Amino acid sequence: MKTLLGLFFAGIIAVVQGQSCTTYQVPKDFFFAAATAAFQVEGGAKADGKGASIWDIWTHYFPGVITDNSNGDIACDSYHLYKVDIQNLKKLGVQQYRFSISWPRILPDGNANSVNPAGIQYYNNLINELIAAGIEPMATMFHFDTPTTLSDAGGWLSRDIVDKFGDYARVLYQNFGDRVKNWLTINEPLSISTWGYCGLDGVQAPGNFSMQCPWSKYLSAHYLILAHAKAYIIYDREFRSRQRGRVGIVLSTGWYTPATNTTEDIAAANRARDFALGWFAEPIFFGDYPQSMKEGIASKSTSEGYTTSRLPEFSPLEKLLLKGSADWLGINYYYGFSINNRVTFPYGIPQEQVDGSTNRNVLYPYPQGLRSVLNYASQTYKVPVVVTENGYSDGTGTLDDTIRIDFLRDHIIATLQARQDGANIQGYTVWSLMDNMEWSSGYTVKYGLYQVNFTDPNRTRTPKASASWYTNVIAQRSINSC
Ligand SMILES: *[C@@H]1O[C@H](CO)[C@@H](O)[C@H](O)[C@H]1NC(C)=O
Ligand SMILES: *[C@@H]1O[C@H](CO)[C@@H](O)[C@H](O)[C@H]1NC(C)=O
Ligand SMILES: *[C@@H]1O[C@H](CO)[C@@H](O)[C@H](O)[C@H]1NC(C)=O
Ligand SMILES: *[C@@H]1O[C@H](CO)[C@@H](O)[C@H](O)[C@H]1NC(C)=O
Repeated sequence: MKTLLGLFFAGIIAVVQGQSCTTYQVPKDFFFAAATAAFQVEGGAKADGKGASIWDIWTHYFPGVITDNSNGDIACDSYHLYKVDIQNLKKLGVQQYRFSISWPRILPDGNANSVNPAGIQYYNNLINELIAAGIEPMATMFHFDTPTTLSDAGGWLSRDIVDKFGDYARVLYQNFGDRVKNWLTINEPLSISTWGYCGLDGVQAPGNFSMQCPWSKYLSAHYLILAHAKAYIIYDREFRSRQRGRVGIVLSTGWYTPATNTTEDIAAANRARDFALGWFAEPIFFGDYPQSMKEGIASKSTSEGYTTSRLPEFSPLEKLLLKGSADWLGINYYYGFSINNRVTFPYGIPQEQVDGSTNRNVLYPYPQGLRSVLNYASQTYKVPVVVTENGYSDGTGTLDDTIRIDFLRDHIIATLQARQDGANIQGYTVWSLMDNMEWSSGYTVKYGLYQVNFTDPNRTRTPKASASWYTNVIAQRSINSC
């Protein structure tokens, strides 16, 4: 690690100081990317043998859960228009495209004994077309769209899904691993556990609150972590020597800064970080949950009269298998938090009060938080880190999106600064390539570099000002702070 760090300092970022403007050169080996996720862009919800995902069910059978009562049946129609998407990626000049693979498109009922050939064909087409365009695929195996059949059988609250996910990952390696070298197992397990299974800060599919919160939150997270490890180990044992790719995970996190410099607020900010990033990263890199979570949740559980902690425990064998189970780490970052220590809590449910999140103010935009989280993740986990999502949303999808340009500029610079600080940061990914189905917000929230006309059957994509700006940054390989 020391020698690697030395390399990063070797004059790779020249900073030219102007009067009020700084130019940052982009290191040669730093890549730019854009991202989407299957459910949000593909459409083709029932096409060619695809099974239903929890999001297909959620959008259709639970009225009112989506702001504009929309669904992902057609979305951006990338199932049919992927070639247009790849042309647009090519125009941007990105080196990589982060997309996700729909589990029920590959395995309609979630099980690996019935593979859908049309699903395999779709992703083969996408991957081949990307490679032909000189764009490296970065594939997420699972971005929220659990097959309904598995969810009905307990989903992420059932240990069975760990093996099912491993079997699914094997199918992906077998079919695509000759060409896909950048694998990401699971997108934002934090969101799945807190929104999908606990309803904290929002509700997402499957909205399964059959088990009391936050028991469900910690249990679903536990299986998500073990499922990740399963997919990693399968790659290690069966594919790595032949395919020579790398397997990582995408974690969403803010940056948690103490509201004041009191010992209590500093400790609360550290706990908040542990309960978001550390919750997943520490098992994966170190083999167990953060000490602050283990102690805090156990004592809270005891104080409420429970005989066991709400936080599940990993077995000694699981700890061994988990430790070091990622070759790289993707970070999704959107905003920071200012953290006050406080003992009351806002959710009206018996949540642990130890996580320091009980009084948080959102800091937005907060690019210095990205710099901090990248430095922290790189130093703590000692693996290559990639910004797998960062972006700005508006409600209009306007083509004249100078606010988005300002946001992206500041966050790309923060990323390059983290690299300059010595963090092992390999690339930056904009969320999103185009406006899309933003989960619970439907089509009311727009993050795209490309505007999509959702009333046009052709789903025409039009570049926004930010698309030309990003194209320029990538072509020039330099970025001005003004
Ligand atoms: C919710 O999870 C429970 C297991 O805790 C399962 O029995 C049930 O079928 C699930 N319900 C839905 C709608 O997913
Ligand atoms: C806390 O102390 C640091 C170092 O002295 C200082 O930079 C920072 O602004 C202080 N933060 C607050 C919220 O007062
Ligand atoms: C979107 O497409 C519809 C149908 O083709 C068209 O009438 C409308 O003008 C388009 N909107 C924009 C903003 O281009
Ligand atoms: C949609 O695409 C078809 C085929 O490319 C084209 O003929 C048609 O004019 C397009 N419609 C609109 C509204 O752009």
